[in-house]
Amino acid sequence: MELSLQNFLIRSFAERDRLSLKNLWEGCGLMVHYNNPDQDIDFAVKSPNSTIFVGEAGIAFMASVMVGHDGHRGWLYYLAVDEHYQRSGYGRAMVSAAEKWLKGEGVRKSMLLLRETNVSVEAFYKRLGYETIPRTVMQRWLT
Ligand SMILES: CC(C)(COP(=O)(O)OP(=O)(O)OC[C@H]1O[C@@H](n2cnc3c(N)ncnc32)[C@H](O)[C@@H]1OP(=O)(O)O)[C@@H](O)C(=O)NCCC(=O)NCCS
Repeated sequence: MELSLQNFLIRSFAERDRLSLKNLWEGCGLMVHYNNPDQDIDFAVKSPNSTIFVGEAGIAFMASVMVGHDGHRGWLYYLAVDEHYQRSGYGRAMVSAAEKWLKGEGVRKSMLLLRETNVSVEAFYKRLGYETIPRTVMQRWLT
């Protein structure tokens, strides 16, 4: 199916999107055993500091981004474009929507974490003006 950016609609996640969203994430290799996608969706939707945008054109549901902030840094998660529609500007459009939302929240910085297994996406983010910063990220599981 041919799609164009002209009829590409970016809107907030609605409950009816849940299954398609999880299928998209699965297809894009974003599902990992230590994250529960339903919990991630529920948390993002209920919190005033986060939201999920989905992208569709016509009947095709093919893009997503989750975005949130802690008042200081904004974070992007679950950026995905269905593999059949990649390299057509949809990823850029989704990031742009997330950045606009962050700016509206008064957040000055947009950040993301890249898994070691997904460094090829670094080139995409660099095209969008993102830079790699020399920081060490640390974590401890609380559950
Ligand atoms: C990353 C992803 C969202 C990019 O979406 P996309 O729709 O293909 O990206 P766009 O078409 O908007 O690309 C924007 C620019 O980045 C470039 N680009 C996209 N993917 C690239 C890649 N893997 N390597 C180098 N450049 C890339 C495009 O050519 C375009 O360049 P331009 O500025 O010359 O036009 C998509 O590849 C994807 O869903 N990947 C799997 C999931 C994933 O890894 N998500 C990120 C988790 S952190």
